[in-house]
Amino acid sequence: MKFFIDTANLEQIKEAQELGVLDGVTTNPSLMAKEGITGRDNILKHYVDICNIVDGDVSAEVIATDYEGILREGKELAALHDQIVVKVPMIKEGVKAIKYFSDHGIKTNCTLVFSAGQALLAAKAGATYVSPFIGRLDDISTDGLNLIAEIRLIYDNYGFETQILAASVRHTMHVLECAKIGSDVMTGPLSSIEGLLKHPLTDSGLEKFLADYKKGN
Ligand code: E4P
Repeated sequence: MKFFIDTANLEQIKEAQELGVLDGVTTNPSLMAKEGITGRDNILKHYVDICNIVDGDVSAEVIATDYEGILREGKELAALHDQIVVKVPMIKEGVKAIKYFSDHGIKTNCTLVFSAGQALLAAKAGATYVSPFIGRLDDISTDGLNLIAEIRLIYDNYGFETQILAASVRHTMHVLECAKIGSDVMTGPLSSIEGLLKHPLTDSGLEKFLADYKKGN
């Protein structure tokens, strides 16, 4: 499973990259705003800065919601760097745009996916990635992980190549469960990745090894 980090914070992206297990980055307009990145030129520059840190796909989201606007913005984003993946919302105009991008060799991430039907449509349109938001489903008492399992089943039934990118991952158990189900990718905060490191028996075992070494040296 690929690990993406879901942030526009350059320091966190660097930290995740240095850990050596990072495969890409996802951003969205809210994450950019959180880092105080405003104005078209600054936003475009920030995407390039991210691409220069990470060795992998970087999702950059369009703001337009009409077909022509999505195409215009998507082409501008894709031209920034060959690591850019154009993130397009799951709306009718978005599906049409994904089909266009797919036919023209531009990678896409279909975002704001909350049902298996939407994921089927994204795959039919040729999306590179589909992003089901599992945390936001959990927030409304709906099982987000079950959606990942449904999409996995449908994609495997027909051999769709669209990669399932579990998004809105909130914690380490989400990461682990997504891996068990067979999600291709997960995107979450750095803490959700670092949580995989932790086990009290690792800590106490290491403490004992070091103490025993010191006794004899
Ligand atoms: C996906 O690409 C989104 O950026 C993201 O995962 C949304 O997560 P949130 O629900 O924590 O905002």
